[in-house]
Amino acid sequence: MQIIRKVSDLLDFVAASLDNGKSIGLVPTMGALHDGHLSLVEKAVGENDVTLVSVFVNPTQFNNPTDLATYPRDEESDFRLLAAANATAVFAPSVEEMYPDGTASDHVFSLGTAAEVMEGKFRPGHFQGVAQVVCRLFRLCRPTRAYFGEKDFQQIAVIRNMVASENIDVTIVPVPIKRAADGLALSSRNALLTPEQRAVAPGIHAALAKSIDFAKEHSVRETIAMVVDAVNALPHMEVEYYEIVDGRTLLPVEQWSESPDVVGCITAYCGKVRLIDNIRYK
Ligand code: PAF
Repeated sequence: MQIIRKVSDLLDFVAASLDNGKSIGLVPTMGALHDGHLSLVEKAVGENDVTLVSVFVNPTQFNNPTDLATYPRDEESDFRLLAAANATAVFAPSVEEMYPDGTASDHVFSLGTAAEVMEGKFRPGHFQGVAQVVCRLFRLCRPTRAYFGEKDFQQIAVIRNMVASENIDVTIVPVPIKRAADGLALSSRNALLTPEQRAVAPGIHAALAKSIDFAKEHSVRETIAMVVDAVNALPHMEVEYYEIVDGRTLLPVEQWSESPDVVGCITAYCGKVRLIDNIRYK
């Protein structure tokens, strides 16, 4: 596996791959890799000639400096896991290499209303930062396909909007959430949980799973209340939001009949660790 640090070397790698008629699968990550990331890599390896994984903790998408400072990092383990997963190359630039003119940007991405709700409301600027780094990665890596985990359900919708508004020719491939045996959605942030917090964190998925049957006999509003109460009843846990939305627009639904595509999206703090998850109702 080739380890690429410099944009100039990345451009050479991409040009050589495309000149040889190879398809490029890109898996953008912020490192601290787990089996969820590896499922994206596995899919990319199966569908493309070349699999390129980026490992870059993007400062521009963090609206909380402590969150950025404490974000888990383990480059040595990341490279070992990626080599074992048959990635062709990893792009792991410094912040200066990624943003040679500084991180500030005048460009405002058109991300639609999908970027204004939920994470957009609670993490101002977050999706502009995600769009900034993913757009730059797409321009540099020129991927045929790019792979994103469905744990970040809203992020996928926002990236699709960015791709459309920036006229980028890439196929976005969503990959199902990977869970621990006890149901907790795999996330790099899980490494920050204390043993007691880790023990209660699967309660988020348990409440979402229980709500599937509950929803058959109850309204959207009652289902939201049930999930919020069940998660808030757990020690260490505090729900930031639980919204039941149209899976295409990310806008809240009030009736189950409003859309053929309905998803519940939750964010909860477990102590100081912000966890997100989602579940499909239909
Ligand atoms: O989902 C993530 O890990 C990040 O938001 C991404 C897409 C790698 C951009 O930094």
